[in-house]
Amino acid sequence: MGSTVNSPSTPIIIPSSPLQTSFIPKTSQLSIFKKKKPFNFASKKLVSCKASDRNQKNADSSSLNRFDRRDILLGLGGLYGATNLVSDPFASAAPIAAPDLSLCENSTVTSSSSGTSMTVPCCPPKATNIIDFKPPRFSNIRLRPAAHLVDANYLEKFTKAMELMKALPDDDPRSFRQQANVHCAYCNGAYDHVGFPDQQLQIHFSWLFFPFHRFYLYFYERILGKLIGDPNFVMPFWNWDSTPGMVIPDIYVDPTSPLYDEKRNVDHQPPKMLDLDYAGTEELLSKRDQIKSNLSVMYRQMVTYKTPSLFHGAAYRAGDNPSPGMGSVENNPHTAVHRWVGDKREPFSEDMGNFYSAGRDPLFYAHHCNVDRLWNIWKSLPGKKRTDFTDTDWLDSSFLFYDENANLVRVKVRDCLNSRTLGYDYQKVNIPWLKNKPTPRRPGRGSGSGSAMAAESNTKTVIRNAFPIVLDKLVRIEVPRTKKSRTKVEKENEEEVLVLQNIRVDRDVAVKFDVYINDEDDETPTEPEDSEFAGSFTNIPHNHHNPGEKLDTKLTLPLSDLLEDLDIERDDNIVVTLVPKEGKGLVSIGNIKIDFVRD
Ligand code: C2O
Repeated sequence: MGSTVNSPSTPIIIPSSPLQTSFIPKTSQLSIFKKKKPFNFASKKLVSCKASDRNQKNADSSSLNRFDRRDILLGLGGLYGATNLVSDPFASAAPIAAPDLSLCENSTVTSSSSGTSMTVPCCPPKATNIIDFKPPRFSNIRLRPAAHLVDANYLEKFTKAMELMKALPDDDPRSFRQQANVHCAYCNGAYDHVGFPDQQLQIHFSWLFFPFHRFYLYFYERILGKLIGDPNFVMPFWNWDSTPGMVIPDIYVDPTSPLYDEKRNVDHQPPKMLDLDYAGTEELLSKRDQIKSNLSVMYRQMVTYKTPSLFHGAAYRAGDNPSPGMGSVENNPHTAVHRWVGDKREPFSEDMGNFYSAGRDPLFYAHHCNVDRLWNIWKSLPGKKRTDFTDTDWLDSSFLFYDENANLVRVKVRDCLNSRTLGYDYQKVNIPWLKNKPTPRRPGRGSGSGSAMAAESNTKTVIRNAFPIVLDKLVRIEVPRTKKSRTKVEKENEEEVLVLQNIRVDRDVAVKFDVYINDEDDETPTEPEDSEFAGSFTNIPHNHHNPGEKLDTKLTLPLSDLLEDLDIERDDNIVVTLVPKEGKGLVSIGNIKIDFVRD
């Protein structure tokens, strides 16, 4: 720690520590990363008993895939949940089970910066009877509308529904407060994994992100529809990925409306343009530049992430440590929108700026409808790996929600993969970001930049094996590449990725740092519209109740397109620049390396 101390203006070049390759025998790697985790025989046995023959086949083949992938993960130094599954022959089925509501605990919300803390009861009413989810019957697909395009008739219905929801008694599981608490409970440590009392359930930072929120919205919508006697009611989406949607939609800003929330950033009312690269400070871009920046963020996060794990996030199984790694959209711009809307004057950036309170802002649901819509769009883009996982641990992961009749329903991820089987899709609107591919900052600098880089690196301080590093200033790291000039087919089969391992930070801190590749210009800031901008890491403040447990996660950024665009596919190394934007000095990074994703 602290090895990056240097004069503030001098960037440091740190060659990353040697790659752990998969040539190291598995066992020797495993022993390094031994993680104690109780093996719950009972719950696993149950799952395999239930599996039909067909499922069993899937489970078998997916467990093979899983071992493949695990080799890659170990190459990356992937520490999460790998060990037991490799050594444990029964571990082929370990989906996250729906939580046991009777064991739900109050959440604690803290702020490390102000030293404040409070207890939040966000457990749902208990119910003994659980119904297994069945896809609804319907006669037509309903289209969720863009919030800025709805008519007066729709608005009247929506407003009425929200009013009625807010009028339900607080102990009704369908009430506005209880529905907001659903998010708090699944995101702030109220539940443990069934059979693993030390592992808190966290549905963010992993492959559970999209399915969990899809079901959450689905039941919310059913409740609203029931309240106004309209089973065809659909919620609106906040179309922040297109120009007319880049302000808070009008219908949410009338202080007399039930769609209004006073705990929002007062400086971000319309006509203020949303910043999808938001890091806690105002950027003062012209409207035109802000649009360009936003569309570039969208292009990168949607188009350059081409495999299920890059899009959805890392695998997360029963007994695993929480928060193995976010997917593209969850990280960015999902976090930026939360932070941009939340009120900085509130102790915990309520409502949208903290997971425990985000569901208290009606705008949350429009925000997440757009996130959900992007899942549909991502799968419709060209590319043979733009599919969902086939891993049964993902498909069989389950959650509990109260439905429109206040019945407790157990849902499985496999039941929500196609929004149309749930009876809805999204109004078709323009998708402007498809045409906003980032471009290199300095055209023509391509080939030969490897040697230019080497020459330059001589002029900078070089520190070997400096990890872990604390991100308190701009840091440069030279990272070796193992495969160069790959063919198109090779690139399609394996995405070259940059992996930042063991990113550690207090969970209750807002964080954003950016990652640039071969970017040597310290004078002008790199922006999302530059090809050199590889992505960002973000955190929305939230808590778990294990005191002192830090967020410990990884960031995986696709490189194949970027290397092509910068014309550096033949280079032996890339130079990675890490720039803290929010939460400076509070984040440490365990290692950084290049690897390959095959899923
Ligand atoms: Cu569950 Cu947008 O967070």
